[in-house]
Order: sequence, then structure tokens, then C-alpha cells
Amino acid sequence: MTKTRHNQLPAKIPAHVAIIMDGNGRWARERKLPRLAGHRAGVDNLRRVIEACGEFGIKYLTLYAFSTENWDRPENEVRGLLNILDDVIDRELDELHENEVRLWHLGRLERLSDELQEKVNHAIELTRDNDRLVLNIAWNYGGRDEIVHAIEKIIASGFAAEDIDENLVSRHLYTAGCPDPDLIIRTSGEFRVSNFLIWQGAYAEWYVTPTYWPEFGREELLAALIEYESRDRRFGRVPGPAKSY
Ligand code: IPE
Ligand code: IPE
Ligand code: MG
Repeated sequence: MTKTRHNQLPAKIPAHVAIIMDGNGRWARERKLPRLAGHRAGVDNLRRVIEACGEFGIKYLTLYAFSTENWDRPENEVRGLLNILDDVIDRELDELHENEVRLWHLGRLERLSDELQEKVNHAIELTRDNDRLVLNIAWNYGGRDEIVHAIEKIIASGFAAEDIDENLVSRHLYTAGCPDPDLIIRTSGEFRVSNFLIWQGAYAEWYVTPTYWPEFGREELLAALIEYESRDRRFGRVPGPAKSY
């Protein structure tokens, strides 16, 4: 079967797209494969989605790879996911760097081995001056944990109650310096947030597709962008002149 390749790009491209990469386990189960085979297929899919983001002119891409709740999965799955993270850095870092992708991590690194923490920090350091695409990897990330972490930092820095405003909180999140997501995509048909970007996503547009993550490709990303273009983002306002009081 030949797939149609859309070449007409929407005029309005979101600056920041965030993706909940879900459905690896169900993709594997449908093929009578172990769950980890689904995770490996999910990782193999990263390259084509990152390339498509570059092609479409998206400047920030955030990928939800492992949540603070995912530690509660069976030990062999968690260990497998840690190994996959380790391998993917080894395998993809040079090419990402060549393609001027800047890597950033959202979440806490403390639970990773010293060696893996060093690898992640090295990737961040190596790519820090790249500016074609910022790629945030949310690993051991939870939106609630991020807010707790921000409060810890704000208190440790000695801010007083009257200093606290939304801007200050935003500046202490893992995404400091990154615009809020315009579009959040969730694969595998689940309509829930699962603790992802709960602060930053306050006014994000959502796109949910039944496609499992290992099969989510360029065409479907483009379909999400076309849908996004048709959305009327109101941010709580109504058409007409702004307030006059
Ligand atoms: C998403 O796929 C990847 C991670 C959460 C690490 P899942 O593993 O959640 O796949 P399903 O939801 O069980 O199909
Ligand atoms: C969200 O998916 C986390 C990631 C994709 C990394 P989950 O599969 O963990 O979420 P729930 O359990 O369906 O809410
Ligand atoms: Mg899932």
C-alpha cells in the first residue's frame, strides 16, 4: 500500500510540540512480543519523528520517555528501559549533534547510576550551543515532582512570599527558558495527562491518536499539525477589543 505524502505544510507551525509516547506495550502484545521489544521499536521511531520536526520547522520537541510512576513497573522492564536509555545515547548522540540538535533533560537524574548520569550530562554539555531544534527528554519526570522541585529551589534561593509569581515559578521548572508547549500529542488513544507538563500545558492544544507510538510517523505528525492549524486558541479571551477598565 502506498501512503500519500503530504507536501503542503500548514502556515501556522507550533513552536513547541510535546509528545506522550504511549502504546509500546500494546504494540508488542499485538505482535506476541515481549514489552521490551515494544520499547525498542519505540526508540527506533525517534529518529523519524525528530527528523520530521526539523523538516517542519518545529523549534522545541519534548518527549515523555519515563514517568516518576513508571518506577512501579516490574523490575525487568525498568532495567530494560534504563539500558535502552544508555544505548540510545551511545547510538544517536553524534548524529543529533551533527544535526544541530540541543539536548536537555526534564526530571531528576538522582536515581540513575553515576555512569548514566555522566552520559546524560555529557550529551547536554556537548550539544549546548546547537540551535536547530531543542530536544527535551522527560526521563524520571513527573509534573507534580517538577513543581515540588521548583518550590525547593525557590525556598533555597531565599525568595520571600511577595516575590512569588507565575513567572518566578516557570523560571524554576525543568523547562526554564523554553516556551510552553503549543501542542501536546498523545499516542495510543488515551485521553489523560499522566502527570505530563501539568503547569506548562495550561493552554496547550491536545491531539490524541489511536496509533501506537512505534507506528507514529511523519504523516501522522503532519496530520496533528494540520489539525492544530484549525484550532482557535483563545486563552480565555473573546474576540474584540481588550479590557478598557
Ligand atoms: C510508553 O509505552 C512507554 C513508557 C511508558 C515507558 P507503554 O509501556 O506505556 O505502553 P502501553 O501503554 O503499556 O501499551
Ligand atoms: C505515560 O504513559 C508516561 C510515558 C509515556 C513515559 P503511561 O503508560 O505510564 O501512563 P498511564 O499509566 O497509561 O497513565
Ligand atoms: Mg502506557
